[in-house]
Amino acid sequence: MIIYAHRGASKHAPENTMPAFDLAYKHEADGIETDVQLTKDGVAVLIHDEKLQRTTNGYGFVKDYTYDELIQLDAGSWKSPKFTNTVIPTLEDLLRWNQDKQLKLNIELKNNVIAYSGLEKTVYQLLQKYSMVKQTVISSFNHDSIAKLKQWSNELDYAFLTSKRDRNLVPFAQSIHAAGIHIQNRLLSNRLVAEAQQHNLYVAVYTVNLPLSIKRAIRMKCHAMFTDIPKLAVDLRKNTR
Ligand code: G3P
Ligand code: MG
Repeated sequence: MIIYAHRGASKHAPENTMPAFDLAYKHEADGIETDVQLTKDGVAVLIHDEKLQRTTNGYGFVKDYTYDELIQLDAGSWKSPKFTNTVIPTLEDLLRWNQDKQLKLNIELKNNVIAYSGLEKTVYQLLQKYSMVKQTVISSFNHDSIAKLKQWSNELDYAFLTSKRDRNLVPFAQSIHAAGIHIQNRLLSNRLVAEAQQHNLYVAVYTVNLPLSIKRAIRMKCHAMFTDIPKLAVDLRKNTR
């Protein structure tokens, strides 16, 4: 069971920032899940919402700001004053940080609302530059986008994300050559895990923060989980049979 820190250790540090990634590492997460979007000038930045207001002191769309403008914003104090002046990181910041740590990565392309032109290629080229293709899974709710990735690499794993109930998840995942299905916790079932395994697909579950849900995912032998509290999940993994 791989434990990914969802947006970093985002329960206790501002999501998708370097302090959240540092805390995930300190708490022994196996990997980091993060969301990537493009600035007006094409820089891959890590932020969940298409708009800035929830997690920064800025307003409007990420896509309407250049990188130099975006890093003026404070992406930490909404969480706590102790994180004041934390900036929105780039994907490159994360990959550089990971060079001596070699955590697994799940990069979620946030292109289901805004179809960022070139996002897939930008992400893939950065992964190549930092030799992190092999330890990375790319995912997206935009299934056309992840299917496109096959054009550039056979060694890149990608998974499709869904929050919708659908009996055809496994055949669909197969049809786009996904390695796995990243599914919302409420949709997780033994039937799905068994069906996926039969077809050589893995199931990962998001976002599990309650001890009962974490233990259930471990017992159901999910391949991976996404949690805002990696410390809790790491402790439970040691003690759950
Ligand atoms: O990748 C798992 C999860 O992050 C998907 O949902 O909205 O938290 O990005 P969201
Ligand atoms: Mg995400």
